[in-house]
Amino acid sequence: MKGEILKLLKETGGYLSGQELCERFGVSRTAVWKVMNQLKDEGYEIEAVRNKGYVLRSTPDVLSKEELESTIHTDWAGANVFFFERTDSTNTRIKRLAESGEPHGTLAVAEIQDGGKGRRGRSWVSPPGVGIWMSLLLRPQIDSVSASMLTLVMALSVSRGIKETTGIDTQIKWPNDLVLNRKKICGILTEMSTELMEIQYVVIGSGINVSQEGFPEEIKETATSLLIETGKQYRRSSIVAQVMKAFEEYYQSFCETEDMSGLKEEYNKRLVNLGREVLVLAPSGEFSGISEGINEKGALIVRLADGTKTEVISGEVSVRGVYGYV
Ligand code: BTN
Repeated sequence: MKGEILKLLKETGGYLSGQELCERFGVSRTAVWKVMNQLKDEGYEIEAVRNKGYVLRSTPDVLSKEELESTIHTDWAGANVFFFERTDSTNTRIKRLAESGEPHGTLAVAEIQDGGKGRRGRSWVSPPGVGIWMSLLLRPQIDSVSASMLTLVMALSVSRGIKETTGIDTQIKWPNDLVLNRKKICGILTEMSTELMEIQYVVIGSGINVSQEGFPEEIKETATSLLIETGKQYRRSSIVAQVMKAFEEYYQSFCETEDMSGLKEEYNKRLVNLGREVLVLAPSGEFSGISEGINEKGALIVRLADGTKTEVISGEVSVRGVYGYV
């Protein structure tokens, strides 16, 4: 009932009659009053006015199942939400949820991750109250070789979600980091389960730095948050909701061609280092060239000094600016 009342308060935007709530849920006025008090304890500013009812004056930056459900307005992406106050890793969690049959579009969000995972076996620092640690479950009916492009689709979605919520333009560092003022603001980790080459499910985990005031020594030169860069606080649930909305749209475009044909222009517009020299660090060695953006397969085209072009495919490759992280 708490979630539904919160949803109604948000949808109405004005007064919600206590009497109507009692009738709708078949409960007493005291029961409704108790729910309102619970919401107030969580930080929602709710005013009760005699003969008018309850009105929601402001929403805090809290993450909860109810808050997420009342903020996300999509058909499928994030429509089934699991929220954890604390978990090892939302990627690991959602894999378990996938194994137990949860549907395409299920989203797991955590306040704290004890074992947040980054790419290449690194860990992902995930303290409470300051970031978005979330994983989306997909059950795409596509060729497994195309699945790595879903990371790019998510990078685009996070960039647009941040823009819609905050007005801030972030850039994409191919394939899947988001940067703001040349520092990392979001990382994405995609994992896949296949059987006989067929995709069982794909998990896309995103870590978005929202309100950190600082970072551990090892990453403080390259990591940043929306708060550090803008001095402003943003509501994490709104960002989650906008990312899910954007993902739903971009995913549809992706599925039409099973590649980045419809998205590459927008991706390249947001690409950091486009037209600049980049250093490609591949297991076979490193080389530099000019970044010309992605092609429809999601590979980064790099023009070498002799004028030839090479396609860099994501995986164990990392691309950076010649002078540092970007
Ligand atoms: C990277 O840039 O190295 C990828 C970082 C991905 C972090 C997110 S946070 C939510 C999800 N759960 C995890 O354990 N990792 C991803």
